[in-house]
Amino acid sequence: MDLAALKLALEASPHNIPLLLLVAKMHEDQYELAEARALLERVLAIDAAHADALLGLARLLDLAGETSEAVVRLDALCSMKPDFAAAWLLRSRIALDEGEAQLARECYDKAVALDRAVADDELLQAILKAGGGGRRTVMTSAGPMEVDDDEDGPFSGMDAVTARELDLEFRVRADIRFGDVGGMEKVKEDIRMKIIHPLKNPDLFAAYGKKAGGGVMLYGPPGCGKTLLARATAGEIQASFFSIGLHHVLDMYIGESEQKLHKIFELARKAAPSVLFFDEIDALAADRRDMRQSAGRGLINQFLEELDGSRASNEGVLILGATNAPWHVDGAFMRPGRFDRLIFVPPPDEPARQEIARIHARGKPLVDFDPAVVGKKTEGFSGADIMAVFEQATEQALSEAMRKGAVVPVSGKMLAAACKEVKPSTRKWFESAKNYALYANQSGFYDDVLIYLGLKK
Ligand SMILES: Nc1ncnc2c1ncn2[C@@H]1O[C@H](COP(=O)(O)OP(=O)(O)O)[C@@H](O)[C@H]1O
Ligand SMILES: [Mg+2]
Repeated sequence: MDLAALKLALEASPHNIPLLLLVAKMHEDQYELAEARALLERVLAIDAAHADALLGLARLLDLAGETSEAVVRLDALCSMKPDFAAAWLLRSRIALDEGEAQLARECYDKAVALDRAVADDELLQAILKAGGGGRRTVMTSAGPMEVDDDEDGPFSGMDAVTARELDLEFRVRADIRFGDVGGMEKVKEDIRMKIIHPLKNPDLFAAYGKKAGGGVMLYGPPGCGKTLLARATAGEIQASFFSIGLHHVLDMYIGESEQKLHKIFELARKAAPSVLFFDEIDALAADRRDMRQSAGRGLINQFLEELDGSRASNEGVLILGATNAPWHVDGAFMRPGRFDRLIFVPPPDEPARQEIARIHARGKPLVDFDPAVVGKKTEGFSGADIMAVFEQATEQALSEAMRKGAVVPVSGKMLAAACKEVKPSTRKWFESAKNYALYANQSGFYDDVLIYLGLKK
């Protein structure tokens, strides 16, 4: 085709998107990247979400050596249109070029799973050669093929891409549900009311003048299932769930963390309805008086700005935080519109401890196991402490098994012994919490703690 003729045609119909794309591709093929890019920008000016134009732009950026910018845009595209095979394929190529063979592999698999037609044996071979291998079945253009593989990582698809791009813990594991979290009926109900229902029925909530959005903070003693509950919430909802370990954000260079935080929020906004989970939020939201570095303050201010959604709307984005040390969280975080809904995650009560024992007993060889006994003997234990009881008892069974050279099941007796050995860990937390609750209980922040301690009705 004649480029000059097409350009004339374009002058006659400057808003013809297929024509713009075609001419852009021709420029690209001649390595006239700037021209190609200008044309794609024109498409995007007409239709900002045009997937082919966005993909083309990412490809041009990559060709021009602006790889990280290409990756950012590509990831945004993949989250906006997760079934776009060609985007995953390009992501795979870039990952391979960047030496991230495993990621390249994950994206490649994703692309081919979406559309067999994009299978590219050459690319796959290059990925395998670069170490993105293991033993499992992959789809090639010739059909399924067995290859070596490592165990599947915790990341998949878009989560993997974004996780690595943002260099963060970004696990989105929808593999557990509320049923895997023992007890805590009240907390689950709170989460249903504050997170799940608003996301599922935004219209209904709107009718009552409520928006799906805003922040919920889980707080309580360590090991009592805050992180677990957040993950289970991901399993309960259909929305995208992003989980961010803040220590990763904090490790970054000054100024860069703010940028990353902004990108995280942008991603969640694009993916709305979505849940953005910040675990161990005290690491970031440390009381500003404790902050010696200005970098910390910059990051906190950035976080507050993102929470307020002043630059971009947070509608449909629920922000979930968790902390063991709410007293280290800057009060500014708790203002209306920010983390204004608090959920106290208490240590498990006796029925909950039975339930947790049952959950941790799943799939283990046990004799004389009575969850009620474990529940009774574990007053003051956190869920993690109960897990430790099972680990301890299992170790004992194992060492006996090795001595005898035969399988020895974990017995009720071993569990009872382990209950004595493992020390309950939640009391210490309450010692601190009690002081804050009694003497620094601004706006009733710690009312639930006082109620739990029987100091308030
Ligand atoms: N309610 C629970 N049901 C089942 N397991 C629990 C429960 N609470 C805690 N656990 C166990 O303890 C571990 C640590 O809990 P986690 O959610 O990380 O606590 P937190 O985030 O509150 O410090 C979990 O991975 C789980 O194995
Ligand atoms: Mg945790």
